[in-house]
Amino acid sequence: MAKDRLIIFDTTLRDGEQSPGAAMTQADKIRIAKALERLKVDVIEAGFPIASPGDFEAVRAVARMIKDCTVCGLARTAHEDIDRAAEALKDARSMRIHTFIATSPIHMKNKLRMEPEAVIEAAVSAVKRARQHTDNVEFSAEDASRSEMDFLCRVVEAVIAAGATTINLPDTVGYGLPESIGQFFRTVIERVPNADKAVFSAHCHNDLGLAVGNSLAAIGAGVRQVECTINGLGERAGNASLEEIVMAVRTRQDAFNCDTRIETSEILNCSRLVSSITGFPVQPNKAIVGANAFAHESGIHQDGVLKHRETYEIMRAQDVGWNTNRIVLGKLSGRAAFRSRLKDLGIEFSREQDLNEAFGRFKELADRKSEIYDEDLQALVSDSAPTETRERIKLVAMRSESATGEVPFAAVTLNIDGEERSAEESGDGPVDAAYKAVESIVKSGANLQLFSVNAITTGTDSQGEVTVRLEHAGRIVNGQGADTDIIVASVKAYINALNRILFPVHREHPQAREHG
Ligand code: KIV
Ligand code: ZN
Repeated sequence: MAKDRLIIFDTTLRDGEQSPGAAMTQADKIRIAKALERLKVDVIEAGFPIASPGDFEAVRAVARMIKDCTVCGLARTAHEDIDRAAEALKDARSMRIHTFIATSPIHMKNKLRMEPEAVIEAAVSAVKRARQHTDNVEFSAEDASRSEMDFLCRVVEAVIAAGATTINLPDTVGYGLPESIGQFFRTVIERVPNADKAVFSAHCHNDLGLAVGNSLAAIGAGVRQVECTINGLGERAGNASLEEIVMAVRTRQDAFNCDTRIETSEILNCSRLVSSITGFPVQPNKAIVGANAFAHESGIHQDGVLKHRETYEIMRAQDVGWNTNRIVLGKLSGRAAFRSRLKDLGIEFSREQDLNEAFGRFKELADRKSEIYDEDLQALVSDSAPTETRERIKLVAMRSESATGEVPFAAVTLNIDGEERSAEESGDGPVDAAYKAVESIVKSGANLQLFSVNAITTGTDSQGEVTVRLEHAGRIVNGQGADTDIIVASVKAYINALNRILFPVHREHPQAREHG
């Protein structure tokens, strides 16, 4: 018997982006959306159009560009929100409006300050309004897993009658346990008389580390859409990780009566892209996409794997995009080879000038590093974002000195909005000295909350990838930089974060305030 399709609804660009420090520009969103299209997700939630003009434009740009996925925009129940989402999505080949309101007693009383009956009315009216724009309407009952069952069933029945075609019941605060989430969905689906008229969807947060387990339990209970993000990106402990859900369902077909249309060999590319754009590194022991996920380090394991792969491996590394032959380009590689390898990685430039600049950087890197890997190319290209997102503060030159017994020193020249400025400082180490020099030029007053260095590939000639997190006036941003010189990488990361924190875009958080 044919299996059901499990719809993969990716919300990296909306819920993932709500993660502090993960704000994305329109160009960032377009690059990730293209990668999601190659991954063959079914639905891309591209943003919350009413949040800001920038969010609106980003959703509109994604809607215009994507051809093989449904593009979705989030809206609260206010008609203004819904009309704005519809406007942003109107050029999509396939669009969905996703409207939501909270249904738990604690959210209705403290956040919405609305009576339950008014919540039902707002939900129904929102769905009807959305149906005037499209017949693909999703309704979410925020904090569904902490809602009263009788009330929740009434809401669900009413919004399906009003025309909602997908019913999403989020575990907004990550409170559910797999068994209770499974039972919760079974009960709603059994009790709502018109449940067969809609697709049920799970949206699980990871506060107890159970988002994937809970999503799988929901699938077992009949849910046929899961909402998830690449690398599990998302507020607090994040959302359910797309790659883990997809590979669990694919690998354990004996246990699931459904499958996805995901092109799993694109998973790793997508993961790396999201990590480099958001500045959220992937932990080495992360399932599927962590550096150690397929590295069978211990001697005993290695021997077992060499003799017979299935001894320790339940999936093939190449099925999720790990490439065994990873040396890709070198000093003598030409522009055509460079372009073609980037294309294989799903990276294309719409403007020749951007390709030329990236190629220039590649040549510089190849002079310093004999073997260039895919990971190097990905880092290099994330340094060459399209012109409209280019950073207003740029590194022009730097020099650092450190020697045993000497006080470390750094000299930095920056270009800020076209004007060059230089400073020299000493510090506790070369990074400290360089950061002090940048700060004496920029005077941001930002606090450094996190600093981490990772080798992008193996070997001492590897590029170092530095991630920094800055806090300024209550906002948090991440920045990343890569270079074979880790002091330069550190300064690039710091400048990248400064650009994001000093030139922010105002936007509203969809779940933060009273009924919109
Ligand atoms: O977690 C949540 O409840 C949400 C809704 C807006 C769908 O993200
Ligand atoms: Zn959420």
